[in-house]
Amino acid sequence: MSLGKILLMDDDALIVTVLLKALSNNGYQVHTVAESKNLLSKMRAWSPDVLLLDINMPGKNGLELLEEIKQEDIDTEVVMLTADDTAETAIKAMKLGAGDYLTKPFDIDEVVIVIGNTIKNRTLKHEVDYYRKICAPIFEKELIGQTEPVKNLRNEISRIAEAGVSTVLITGENGTGKEVTARYLHRLRYGGCASGHAPFVAVNCAALPETILESELFGYEKGSFTDAKSDKEGLFEAACGGSILLDEIGEMKLDLQSKLLRVLEEKTIRRIGGNKEIPLDATVIATTNRNLAEMVAEGSFRMDLFYRLNGFALQTIPLREIKEDIPLLAEYFLSIISQKYNKKNVKRFSPAAEASMKAYDWPGNIRELKNAIERIVVLEQAEIITPEHLPFRQGGSNSLLTAGDVEGVCYFILPEGGISLDDLEKNLIWQAMQKANQNKAQAAKLLGISYNAIRWQVKKFGLVG
Ligand SMILES: Nc1ncnc2c1ncn2[C@@H]1O[C@H](COP(=O)(O)OP(=O)(O)OP(=O)(O)O)[C@@H](O)[C@H]1O
Ligand SMILES: [Mg+2]
Repeated sequence: MSLGKILLMDDDALIVTVLLKALSNNGYQVHTVAESKNLLSKMRAWSPDVLLLDINMPGKNGLELLEEIKQEDIDTEVVMLTADDTAETAIKAMKLGAGDYLTKPFDIDEVVIVIGNTIKNRTLKHEVDYYRKICAPIFEKELIGQTEPVKNLRNEISRIAEAGVSTVLITGENGTGKEVTARYLHRLRYGGCASGHAPFVAVNCAALPETILESELFGYEKGSFTDAKSDKEGLFEAACGGSILLDEIGEMKLDLQSKLLRVLEEKTIRRIGGNKEIPLDATVIATTNRNLAEMVAEGSFRMDLFYRLNGFALQTIPLREIKEDIPLLAEYFLSIISQKYNKKNVKRFSPAAEASMKAYDWPGNIRELKNAIERIVVLEQAEIITPEHLPFRQGGSNSLLTAGDVEGVCYFILPEGGISLDDLEKNLIWQAMQKANQNKAQAAKLLGISYNAIRWQVKKFGLVG
């Protein structure tokens, strides 16, 4: 088994021969590239762990090639070979993204050690990325807050989870953490990390037309309608042993509401076109930002379903009522979002920014706070966040450009302190990516640029995509 794949590029045939032999003898699989025009395609095709790249070569030199490699999404560590023993070239190479460098003439032991360390670092980097990825959803499920209302909410959730209640209603304004509450309940109910084994199925009742929602929830038997080419398990079944989140239950049509009521009362489901009763062993969590009692009075929500759901009800709290938690939440988002975007220097809030955040009413609640911080992490350069960086404070020197419209011609109003075109570009790219849900093709369309252009821009500005 090879210890790793090494690609080698140097115009000095003697060095190539010596390294090829030495590294192969030490257990590495080694390939070489002779011409710079073939380098990128070889790297893409073979995915080496390490590229040993000479700096001084005729034609394109190693630093130029390194720059090209770093522009592409190629996951290979680069170790530069340099004949120049001044630190300057090496520093330049490291700045461009090289992992290490070797100064000629080198002895073979040194090469083997540097390659070994580079591969070790690369493996560690992959591990960190992996754990970051699997930890991200754990962070997202955290229900942060130290004020009394949030502590009470957490206590209520624990009691409901311990009691093993099977139907729970969560109400609250937009962005107050209804889904976070549902996931927190699920985790307590089905046990910490092990909850990875208990399914959590989320369904947005507002997102699908009624008939599709019904077949998604209940599943169907082959032949029960034209498109039912085979049996299909529904989401209720998929949630067995765990939880199903019926998000925006207030948007469910009356007809489906009665079918849901039947499920909750009888704890069984029947697939469309089927006659077998399948036991439903799942916690059903419904959420809404609507006032269901009012909907009952208006006749748009079934009273019996309302009472069935409302037996165990949790209410999430508007952010303006727990302002003392704002600094804690803000710090938390700052840290997880900096991690998400791989920002090494986590910013800090100035006392004035904190005061300003506490003074604001946050109509979009915790989601609005999180989005505001995401915008600052991505777009602002400053280390210390001041009130001017906060999106709700109008007129700050860094505030977003506002669009104007004169006689049908759209234009942007330059802010007081001016703005660099680079910042403007970054800002628009970020907004397009947000709007397009991180889908580069869609974002490119919004900006009228090519897919390759947006890929390059996202990379250039260090936006996650
Ligand atoms: N207490 C909290 N601790 C940490 N993060 C939170 C908390 N509450 C909300 N969030 C974050 O705020 C955002 C909105 O939360 P969530 O989606 O749960 O709100 P929601 O009430 O379901 O919103 P909507 O009504 O729009 O569906 C999410 O990114 C979530 O991670
Ligand atoms: Mg929600």
